[in-house]
Amino acid sequence: MSQRSLEVFYEPNLRLTQAHGLLGYNAGYAEARGRATFDQCQKNLVWRLLGDVEIGPHSTVLDIGCGIGGPSGWIYERYRPARLIGIEYCFSSVRTAKQRLAGKPRSPIFLQGDAHWLPVRDQSVDVIFNLESALHYADKRKFFAECLRVLKPGGVLCLGDITTRHRRTFAVLGTLSRLISQFFTHARLWSSSDYLATFESLGFQFIRHEQVTRQSWNSLADGLDDIGRVRWRGARGYRGRFCYLYFVARLLRDKWLDYDLFALEKPKRVESG
Ligand SMILES: C[S@@+](CC[C@H](N)C(=O)[O-])C[C@H]1O[C@@H](n2cnc3c(N)ncnc32)[C@H](O)[C@@H]1O
Repeated sequence: MSQRSLEVFYEPNLRLTQAHGLLGYNAGYAEARGRATFDQCQKNLVWRLLGDVEIGPHSTVLDIGCGIGGPSGWIYERYRPARLIGIEYCFSSVRTAKQRLAGKPRSPIFLQGDAHWLPVRDQSVDVIFNLESALHYADKRKFFAECLRVLKPGGVLCLGDITTRHRRTFAVLGTLSRLISQFFTHARLWSSSDYLATFESLGFQFIRHEQVTRQSWNSLADGLDDIGRVRWRGARGYRGRFCYLYFVARLLRDKWLDYDLFALEKPKRVESG
């Protein structure tokens, strides 16, 4: 995947979030419709994915695919870990994340980087947070190998992603949409069972898995209602992204897409023979 084309894909998201004062790019989580702002729902998804994973004053946390840094900032404020590093492929998002937190004495660090080649030392990380980003990765096994490399023994990977039970259909649509580049979504969807089988084959220890498709749909549908109520003056080009997200919400509602949250542990000891 070219860095430039992902950058172009996320430009409308950047405009849309800036126009509405949002800090996240994720679908969010809501038990029922009409109860919370989209911003709050995006935070709720972060807390839901982390669950009761321990993050303390000595922890090092990586937020991979951190977007414009909303979730990194929320995690940092709540847990005050020793270090929180946000890694993001798009330069424009890294710039936005840095600008927002500039001048704060203590804040997350944001780096441009690729989830397939993490710019982090071996066995140096306690918790990896990865929300709605792995759907873009061309080689997810390589990403998980990197997670295993950088996690300390006993370290935890929290991964939330959009998945599908109709992988073949989406693969065909993905190939077709490459021909009409403005519809190319950069999504390489897996099913939840693809994820579970891969975690097992790579030796991760299972902590938790839950499917939150309905709650993500509640949140995204409400969020789009809020966005749709505001007049779209001066927010160039995000009309198309609104329609795209509306389509994603429909696919979640009709269960063509799912939303899965996983927590896995890197084994404390590798079993010998
Ligand atoms: C849907 S957004 C989610 C952003 C953030 N996690 C949040 O919840 O607000 C997915 C993000 O993953 C980033 N991304 C995609 N491929 C990546 C890669 N190979 N390495 C790092 N980040 C990547 C995208 O640029 C985008 O910012």
